[in-house]
Amino acid sequence: MKGYEKYTPFGKITQLTNREWPNKLIEKAPIWCSVDLRDGNQALVDPMNLEEKIKMFNELIRVGFKEIEVGFPSASETEYEILRALIDRNLIPDDVTIQVLVQAREHLIRKTFEAIDGAKNVIVHFYNSTSTLQRKVVFHKDMDAITEIAVNGAKLIRQLTDEMDTSNMNIRFEYSPESFSGTEPEFAVSICNAVAEAIGADEEHPIIFNLPSTVQLSTPNVFADQVEYFCKNINNRKAVIVSVHPHNDRGTGVADAELALLAGADRIEGTLFGNGERTGNVDIVTVALNMFTQGVDPMLDFSDIKKTRAVYEECTRMKVHERTPYAGELVFTAFSGSHQDAIKKGTDYMDETHSDHWEVPYLPISPADVGREYEPIIRINSQSGKGGAAFIMQQMFGYNMPKSMHPEFGYYVKKEADRKGKELTPEEIFSLFEQQYLSVKSPYTLGKHKIHQLGSEDNDSVTEFVGSLICHNEEIQLDGEGNGPIDAFFDALKKCGISRYKFVSYHEHAIGNGADAKACAYVELLTPEGANVFGVGVHANINIASIKAVLCAVNRAMNMQIGE
Ligand code: KIV
Ligand code: ZN
Repeated sequence: MKGYEKYTPFGKITQLTNREWPNKLIEKAPIWCSVDLRDGNQALVDPMNLEEKIKMFNELIRVGFKEIEVGFPSASETEYEILRALIDRNLIPDDVTIQVLVQAREHLIRKTFEAIDGAKNVIVHFYNSTSTLQRKVVFHKDMDAITEIAVNGAKLIRQLTDEMDTSNMNIRFEYSPESFSGTEPEFAVSICNAVAEAIGADEEHPIIFNLPSTVQLSTPNVFADQVEYFCKNINNRKAVIVSVHPHNDRGTGVADAELALLAGADRIEGTLFGNGERTGNVDIVTVALNMFTQGVDPMLDFSDIKKTRAVYEECTRMKVHERTPYAGELVFTAFSGSHQDAIKKGTDYMDETHSDHWEVPYLPISPADVGREYEPIIRINSQSGKGGAAFIMQQMFGYNMPKSMHPEFGYYVKKEADRKGKELTPEEIFSLFEQQYLSVKSPYTLGKHKIHQLGSEDNDSVTEFVGSLICHNEEIQLDGEGNGPIDAFFDALKKCGISRYKFVSYHEHAIGNGADAKACAYVELLTPEGANVFGVGVHANINIASIKAVLCAVNRAMNMQIGE
């Protein structure tokens, strides 16, 4: 591929030695700030209207966000009106802080202060771009001139706050050295120190310094170095909340956010499902649920992820991709046979052991934890293994086939998936099971019959089977004896010439509970040709279920022979 030579590698630009972040783990949730209604919204083909913004705002509150950037009120009348509606209609809960964005420019800052009047908890978030590239090609200003813009903005914000009646308001401040990822770390620290001083931050009134990877330029370890350098070199760290705002140009927004937490960040700004400018902002759902699966409470509740996804899709008119972690349509679906088998073993293990820990291969999270317990975990296509179809039959329909039967049924499923050229739904799998086993009634159908116990309870008892089979409208009388119903039925079959099959195995279980419960029996026979053939019988009476299973296996064996 041609053209790569024109790109300058973004090497290690920090002076960081003895970096500590590689030895750390994420052990607690950060402060989360949703920027769905601002960064996410500004990147939509059709930005959200008031109703949609309110709907999204309420969903963000429902999942637990306490800080929400609601807009850029000085940017347009619509944005201004939306903010006023949220404040005037009392739509903001007392424990939620709204955040408003503004460039570090006088008239915009003044307009922003008009817009926030009366809000209980507000973060005024101001920014100017600090990167080497933007200074060179956009602003044509040196570091001092860029610092002056930020400091003047900070001073004006301080002044307007002091002049405002804030008796019922709690105003906090956030400054972003925009394009931090492309800014010399020493300069980022020095401009933020100047801003903190101008605004009067102290330990009781910490300022939020938000470090955006406005454009991702490096591997996440370099970003982590930049953040750790900032945390270690900023003046009076306790008077500062370090926030990160990763975008996703290199597809590593989540990695940037996670490594930034290791590097000392206290706060993350991002969006649901990663909506945002260009390739989007960091996906907060993924970062939060990644924490959840490490045993850390993310302090956000995505236990009804389908609702969150539905609100997102409705308000943004964007689709959550099928492979999006945790929320995508296909993320709890295993197509590969070996994965299906392992998942089945894992869920059996969980049922048997009642383990307190989630130990299911290929599923890093229990689907139930995100409200997806009713979805079939496995879909069946021609690549699927034998265990997958058995798993569906067990989980969804209550048929617990013996393991030795899985290959036989798996063969029919694979054949059918190949024939249809698509994956099979659970209903299609069940109807295949019905067709192959439950509704096989020829050449023989069971006619009227009786099963008696001969002899007393204490003696070795003998079971007698008396009844008939219907074959091509003719009735064949049966009479046999044995040490149980199956044995007696076999004896009766032998006497009327059906004697080619050897009994191999028998399994049974109940389907359903209480008065509606039925018995399901599985019988395996060996044909003279050396083939193993299964039969299934279902009936309220276990003896009849067993006999039906034998007859089903005989019928199937005979039909196979005819088919050969
Ligand atoms: O990506 C960015 O740099 C921003 C800032 C305005 C914080 O959205
Ligand atoms: Zn952004």
